[in-house]
Amino acid sequence: MHVGPADASDIFTDNQRWADVDAWNEAVAELHAKGGIHRVEREGFKPFWAIIDHSALIEIERQHTLFTNEPEPVLQNDAIIKNRVGVIKSLIHVDDPLHGKLRRMTSDWFKPASIRRMNDRLESLSLEAIAKLEKFEGRCDFARDIALAYPLQVILGLLGLPEEDYGRMLKLTQELFGAEDPDLQRDADSGEDAGDVIADFNRYFTQLTEDRRAQPTDDLASLIANGRIDGEPLPLLETFGYYTIVATAGHDTTSAAMAGGLEALIKNPDQLKRLQAEPDLIPNAVEEMIRWTSPVRHFMRTAQDDTEILGQKIRKGDWLYLSYKGANLDPMVFEDPLRFDIARSDANRQVAFGVGVHFCLGATLARNELRSLFSHLLPRLDTIEFDGLPTTSKTTFVGGHKTLPIRYRLR
Ligand code: HEM
Repeated sequence: MHVGPADASDIFTDNQRWADVDAWNEAVAELHAKGGIHRVEREGFKPFWAIIDHSALIEIERQHTLFTNEPEPVLQNDAIIKNRVGVIKSLIHVDDPLHGKLRRMTSDWFKPASIRRMNDRLESLSLEAIAKLEKFEGRCDFARDIALAYPLQVILGLLGLPEEDYGRMLKLTQELFGAEDPDLQRDADSGEDAGDVIADFNRYFTQLTEDRRAQPTDDLASLIANGRIDGEPLPLLETFGYYTIVATAGHDTTSAAMAGGLEALIKNPDQLKRLQAEPDLIPNAVEEMIRWTSPVRHFMRTAQDDTEILGQKIRKGDWLYLSYKGANLDPMVFEDPLRFDIARSDANRQVAFGVGVHFCLGATLARNELRSLFSHLLPRLDTIEFDGLPTTSKTTFVGGHKTLPIRYRLR
């Protein structure tokens, strides 16, 4: 256990630390050497315990009545919590029994057998991505030109939203997740903030709900709009929360794994060559890319009783920060964790999708998207290198590459 302000534990609260992911990784390695749980006391934040230990994180997530998502599942500073106007009530914001009921409404849609329905769409999006690379003639920004669009198109298709809403949805997602990053947040001059972003989402989804209630279709948006809980129509707040979590959670996360995965291959040309020669390794490589990028940087839990974690006393009401990336770099589980290794035998022990009742609903879909894209891309890549410095979003919640300039030759 480590207490105190002037140490590496500001990697959890300081969004600027995410501008340099390698330095972040080194800092978490330093913390691992001291222990798997760290007390973080920073001005402007309610103190919390940061969990970077792989098995402790899993244990906490499994005990979902002892460690709840309510009331604050995402780290926010005191000022934001105090001045918050917009409220989101989505799967990650609630606990049982409501959580289980909400989740059962759509869980069949996300099962591997149902997700297989999406495979043709994924194949055509992967081919579109290759066609774009051809069009860009050897230079592009992989993060913006390819990785950003692909998962969003998948989500729009899943929800049944028209392609012309693509721009709007992209902007809203980025503004919501990028509230801390000046390049992504809502224009400061507009005098608006995350509350206004949520209000915009709600306006858009009110119309969608009305449309789908009037004319039900066979898409996910219709299922949500016409969803019932205990025989009653889903209240509006929960309905909006559902759209928002599906629209946002399935988008930036998967983009981040795609761009971060490609960057890792460029930095490790031996791995790239091997993956091209042994495409059967792609599913394992995808697990490693997800471990490596861990696009969801944290979720919070609140202890509902006095307890103990890794020998540390935890009091009722204490806030816990689950560092998915920290756990995915735990040297007790992953040998030489800062090495990117597509053939790592235990890559599938990564916990980037979480664990237990809140386990990522879109995990199969995300894996399939990454597998499809890389299966199409790798055989076509003759050469690839950086064409400038990549940049990453300065956010403590969900993030990855903002830019990944590349120069390449296709076969
Ligand atoms: C690489 C991509 C992705 C990563 C790393 C990721 C990660 C996560 C994590 C860490 C959680 C919370 C788990 C927990 O608390 O234990 C989560 C929840 C969730 N994810 Fe994902 N996700 C990804 C892609 C997707 C996709 C494609 C969708 C599709 C719609 C999606 C939908 C959701 C939903 C709906 C939840 C809330 C589940 C609940 O609270 O019951 N995610 N995800």
